Amino acid sequence: SARKAYRASIIHSIGDPAEVGVEASYEYFEDGLLVVTDGRVESVGDAGVLLANLPAGTEVTEYPDALLMPGFVDTHIHYPQTGMIASYGEQLLDWLNNYTFPAENAFSDPAHAAEVAEVFLTELLRNGTTTALVFGTVHKGSVDAFFSAAEQRNLRMIAGKVLMDRNAPEYLTDTAESGYRDSRELIERWHGKGRLHYAVTPRFAPTSTDEQLAAAGQLLQEYEGLYMHTHLSENRDEVEWVKSLFPQCSGYLDVYDHYNLLSERSVFAHGIHLCDDECKRLSETGSAIAFCPTSNLFLGSGLFNLPKMEQHKVRVGLGTDVGAGTSFSILQTLNEAYKVMQLQGAKLSPFKSLYLATLGGARALRLEDRIGSFASGNEADFVVLDYNATPLMQYRMAQAKTLDERLFVLMMLGDDRTVRETFAAGESVHRRD
Ligand code: GUN
Ligand code: FE
Repeated sequence: SARKAYRASIIHSIGDPAEVGVEASYEYFEDGLLVVTDGRVESVGDAGVLLANLPAGTEVTEYPDALLMPGFVDTHIHYPQTGMIASYGEQLLDWLNNYTFPAENAFSDPAHAAEVAEVFLTELLRNGTTTALVFGTVHKGSVDAFFSAAEQRNLRMIAGKVLMDRNAPEYLTDTAESGYRDSRELIERWHGKGRLHYAVTPRFAPTSTDEQLAAAGQLLQEYEGLYMHTHLSENRDEVEWVKSLFPQCSGYLDVYDHYNLLSERSVFAHGIHLCDDECKRLSETGSAIAFCPTSNLFLGSGLFNLPKMEQHKVRVGLGTDVGAGTSFSILQTLNEAYKVMQLQGAKLSPFKSLYLATLGGARALRLEDRIGSFASGNEADFVVLDYNATPLMQYRMAQAKTLDERLFVLMMLGDDRTVRETFAAGESVHRRD
């Protein structure tokens, strides 16, 4: 039949520890069972109880020494930057000009785009990430290639074509008119098809004219359920540049606000140098921020203030931001998030980390009714993490007795080697040898 069951230690986040307290933020089953029917979660609970009620003949897969949890959600990543990850020496604006724009130029070739899309999705799944909000390049073919590859693997993915009509090399720019037209074409072709969604994607304020930002706002008006995905307040020179380009606006966020780009489906990467009024505006519009610690450290951009976002009740997800980010692994991203908090005299608990990596990311993307937890009826996107992934982790785990200790060690020492298997819509999409 279409019913399958998976037996392991199972954990899932069911609330934000900052809102409901740690104890009410998760469910944990030491000897747990996840029952999946037709690609959806039927039930989760204690194996002893659920096994007794399973129809005879149901296939049960057992994972000893493993922790099964919802697939990771990456709320900000650039698939075209897969091949230029780890490029040396620059901060944001020089990094874009010296490395990023030349690498993105190659995506005018659809065959190149198709090849990178495969490498990228394979890498996401190797790392246990089952949903991501993804930048393409300015070329509409880059987004066709990405969505085709994601559709073949039946993944829940959000992506969009970059809008960029100034302050970039000529070979990488569109116009307000062509960007609008190409976006419409892609929306008609892909938005709502299977598990795919479209995000209107102005790169960031400095590379769009007023006309283009207005066109982005118009697209959001014209179609239901579109996302808006861009960068915000990442680097101090960038913030000053935006102020000089848009002197009539009160600040960086106000530029996007002016063109009606703030909504419940808006996701802004970074948001490091924001004032209280900007946090308040993000909160009241239901917008989300993608916290990208490996990128923020790699480019020397600054330290993201998560407690401030919690105070203002701004939705936050985690982003790897590859290729400015240095890892596809959400576990490695949590490792660096922890250190970013430490440098500010704050803590990041393992349960808050679990939340950010799964349900928090799903909430930032307004997908919490489909993914991010094992609520019954949710799509069965999940990962099996191996407590014995490496000799060091095995040795360390032997000393780690409590759940919060074991979770924390997974997050500090874990990476792609930790991911034993990844499932999307109930099907295995990656198995480590
Ligand atoms: N700001 C504008 N474009 C980019 C990009 O590609 N990466 C990052 N990290 N910041 C940006
Ligand atoms: Fe980015």
